[in-house]
Amino acid sequence: MRKGIIALLVVALLAPAVVFAGGSREAAPATVDTVEVLHWWTSGGEAAALNVLKNNLEAEGIEWIDSPIAGGGGTQAMTVLRSRATAGDPPAAVQMLGFDIKDWAEMGLLANLNELAEAENWDAVVPDALKEFSKYDGNWIAAPVNVHSTNWVWSNAALLDELGLDIPQTWDEYIAAMDAAQEAGYIGLAHGGQAWQDATVFDGVLLSTGGPEFYQRAMIDLDDAALRSDTMLKVFQRMDQLRGYLDPNFSGRDWNLASAMVIEGDALFQMMGDWAKGEFLNAGMEAGKDFYGIRTPGSQGSVTFNSDQFVMFEVAPQYRGAQSLMASAVMDPDFQIAFNTVKGSVPARTDVSDAQFESIGRQAMADLAEANRNGTLFGSMAHRHANPASVMEAMYDVITAHFNGQITSEAAVSAIADAVTQAR
Ligand code: GAL
Repeated sequence: MRKGIIALLVVALLAPAVVFAGGSREAAPATVDTVEVLHWWTSGGEAAALNVLKNNLEAEGIEWIDSPIAGGGGTQAMTVLRSRATAGDPPAAVQMLGFDIKDWAEMGLLANLNELAEAENWDAVVPDALKEFSKYDGNWIAAPVNVHSTNWVWSNAALLDELGLDIPQTWDEYIAAMDAAQEAGYIGLAHGGQAWQDATVFDGVLLSTGGPEFYQRAMIDLDDAALRSDTMLKVFQRMDQLRGYLDPNFSGRDWNLASAMVIEGDALFQMMGDWAKGEFLNAGMEAGKDFYGIRTPGSQGSVTFNSDQFVMFEVAPQYRGAQSLMASAVMDPDFQIAFNTVKGSVPARTDVSDAQFESIGRQAMADLAEANRNGTLFGSMAHRHANPASVMEAMYDVITAHFNGQITSEAAVSAIADAVTQAR
């Protein structure tokens, strides 16, 4: 209720009802009660979560104009956004990640959300790790809707049971479990061969192999010695090892179809961010009973995160009211619970209770808080939170070429270091 009043107040502040020009009184263009939202949430779990936001906005009288761009991780969505912006026709609201937000802010194309942020006291409730991307030059330019993390392995509980396996805690146990699955005629690892998915797996393997300090040096600081190290070689060798557990049809497969293979019990594991949990939940499975989510074995205690945020592009003034209502709806604490319990992520606000989350969601919230305290919380390389897109894409190219067997692990080590040097 309080929230609605604040939002209306901000709309009133932002929407210029009347323009005085040269003493004559002209009506401003009528306020537009629509908001076009560009996003890449097209899987079953994602669409179910997005509907929560759509319905909330429609209840406030804002019509939602849906612009979905299929393609996990947002690669295709960002390509479409670039061409729309170049043509001078950006959507009013856009789902965006990490360093991309900084890039668009630097170009001066994003609306300033300070007034709303101040009225709703966002500063007090959004953690610093997210503010790093929600604010630019001290100004609010994005409303964070969630926190995901990428170092997860998803598994089918019945299949683990059938194979007589415990949940793996170490890399060796993890590999042994996939061996057992393969021997019994199942697929060890469900995967979709798309660059961003390969990179998501790489995030977890690197964290597990090198530990948090190595993730910091190699992925965040881009330290050349770390990128060329024996540890990096081991990371690529482990990627090679994982390739041995895929089915022959992995190439180009969408991530949610890989999740479905675990849901159906055809494959034992999937290494994917916790948006995959949204698929398990959407299929009616119960967390901790029908499926498990564990940290990539060996990476326990550390978290690689990404946060979906909504930015508002500077469009005509008559759209500002609807944009403001949308940003306000995104930050609403009750909405953040309703949305994130479906999406598989956790709230972007620190003042929201975990009571309505299932066991893995509560664990995710605890993990994030602990990693934040211990300095083992890192922006995900694969999901645009470690480096600008140019560096990330340079890494993607090498990781994917290697994962597809086009270059050896030794060659991949020098290639990734060289590519990073060039992209910086
Ligand atoms: C991530 C995004 C998630 C999820 C995933 C798959 O980049 O943060 O919300 O949708 O891509 O599309």
